[in-house]
Amino acid sequence: MPNAIKIPSSVVVVGLGYVGLPLALAFSKKLSTIGFDVDVARIDELLAGFDRNREASVAEIASTALKMTTDASCIADADFIIITVPTPVTADNKPDLSLLESACTVIGSQLRNRSGDASAPIIVFESTTYPGCTEDYCGPIIERESGRKAGEEFFLGYSPERTNFGDAEHTLETVIKVVSGQTADVGKVVGDTYHLIAKAGVYLAPDIKTAEASKVIENVQRDLNIALFNELAIIFDRMDIRSSEVFEAASTKWNFHRYRPGLVGGHCIPVDPYYLTHAAAEVGYDAEVVLAGRAVNEKMPAFIVEKIGFLIASAGQDPAEVTVLVLGQTFKQDVTDSRNSKAVVLARLMNATFGLVDIYDPFIPELSTSPTLFENVKQYDVVVLAVPHTEFSNNPEWIVELCQENGLIFDIGGAIDPDLVKRHHRRYWTL
Ligand SMILES: NC(=O)c1ccc[n+]([C@@H]2O[C@H](COP(=O)([O-])OP(=O)(O)OC[C@H]3O[C@@H](n4cnc5c(N)ncnc54)[C@H](O)[C@@H]3O)[C@@H](O)[C@H]2O)c1
Repeated sequence: MPNAIKIPSSVVVVGLGYVGLPLALAFSKKLSTIGFDVDVARIDELLAGFDRNREASVAEIASTALKMTTDASCIADADFIIITVPTPVTADNKPDLSLLESACTVIGSQLRNRSGDASAPIIVFESTTYPGCTEDYCGPIIERESGRKAGEEFFLGYSPERTNFGDAEHTLETVIKVVSGQTADVGKVVGDTYHLIAKAGVYLAPDIKTAEASKVIENVQRDLNIALFNELAIIFDRMDIRSSEVFEAASTKWNFHRYRPGLVGGHCIPVDPYYLTHAAAEVGYDAEVVLAGRAVNEKMPAFIVEKIGFLIASAGQDPAEVTVLVLGQTFKQDVTDSRNSKAVVLARLMNATFGLVDIYDPFIPELSTSPTLFENVKQYDVVVLAVPHTEFSNNPEWIVELCQENGLIFDIGGAIDPDLVKRHHRRYWTL
C-alpha cells in the first residue's frame, strides 16, 4: 500500500551553491529547512556568515532559520528533498552525471534509515539535465540504494531553476517556476510547495520529461540565437560592414529579434545544449543545428584574438611587442563566477600571442595581474573590454585613459560609446 503524499513540513536542499543557497534561504522562511552540502569549507564559510558567491549577505545568513550541515543524516526523515548539484560536461562534451549519481547515492542510502511511520518523501531535481534523466537515471539509483520503490515509497519531481544570477529583476520571487511530478498528485504537491516561495506562480508541466526538456531548450535557444549573431558579426566583419549598425537597421522590422554577439560562457548556456544533443543521439538523431551553434560560439575567443592581431599588424605594430589589458574574467557581467568563462580563454590565447597581457577583474582579484589599476594607471596599446561589468561600462573615460593615444579599444559587447573613444583619439572596435 503506497504511503500517502502530503504537503511537506520539512525540506532538505542537497547542494548549497548558486542555485541551492538562495532556494534554501527562501524555503527556510516558510518551512523547516536544512541545507546539506558535501563541501566542508563551503558549510564552514556559510556558518560563519560568508557566501563566496555573494548572493546572500552576512545579515541574511545571520538572521536565517536555515540549518546548514555536512551531515547527510538530515535527509533520512525529510519530506521534500531538492537536489541542486552541478551537471557539467566531460572533456568530450558528454553529460557528466557523477555529481548527480553521488547525490542520489547519498539520498538513497539515507532513506534506508527513514522512520517506519514517515510518509513517502518527494525528491525534486533542480539540476539541469536531459529529458528522462530524473526517472530513468536518478530514480533507479535511489531505488537501489534505499531498497524503496519509486512511485510508491518515494516520489520524483523536477523543477528547473531559471533565475538569472546577478540580475535583480529576474529572481526566485519574480519568475514563474515550472514544476512537475511523477504522478498528477505529486505534481500538485510540488506546485503547492514551490508556490510558497515562487510568488510569480508555478506552471505545472504534464510530466517530468516535459519539464526537463523545457529547461534545456531555454538555454539551447539562447545559445543558438547568440551563435547566429556571432556568425553574422564575423561575416559582416569580412565585408567591412559594422554589424551593430546592420542589427540596428534590421531591428526596425516588427518580427526581427535582436541579440548581441559576444562570448558565451558559464556552466549553463554552453553546457546544457550538450545534454540535449546527447539525448537526441540516444534516440538516433544528430542535432546538427544545435551543435553548429555551439561550434560558432566556441570559436569566438580565437576569432577575437585573430582580429586584434590583424588590427595591430595593420597599424604597423608587432603583436609580440604590444601591451594588452583585458578587463573582466567572469563568465558574464557583475557576477563572481569564472567557471567556463570565455574571457579566461581569451586572456590565455592573448598571452600566447601578444607581448604583455595584464588582466583586471574587480570581482575576482585572484585572477587579476593588475589589482591596483585604479590607483596606478598605466597605458596599454590595446584595452579589451571582455566583460562589461557595470563598474566598467559606467566609467568609459577611465577605460579610455588606460589606453595609449592611437591605441585600440576592443569593446567586445559594445558597452561604451564609440564616439567618446574616437574623440579621445583611440581606435574602437566592437563585434
Ligand atoms: N548557477 C546558475 O546560474 C544556474 C541557473 C540555472 C540552473 N543551474 C543548474 O543548477 C545546478 C546547480 O548549479 P550551481 O551553479 O548552483 O552549482 P554550484 O557549483 O554553485 O553548487 C553546487 C553545490 O553542490 C555541492 N555538491 C556537489 N555534490 C554534492 C553531493 N553529492 N551532495 C551534496 N552537495 C553536493 C557542491 O559542493 C556545491 O556547493 C546545475 O545543474 C546547473 O546547471 C544553474
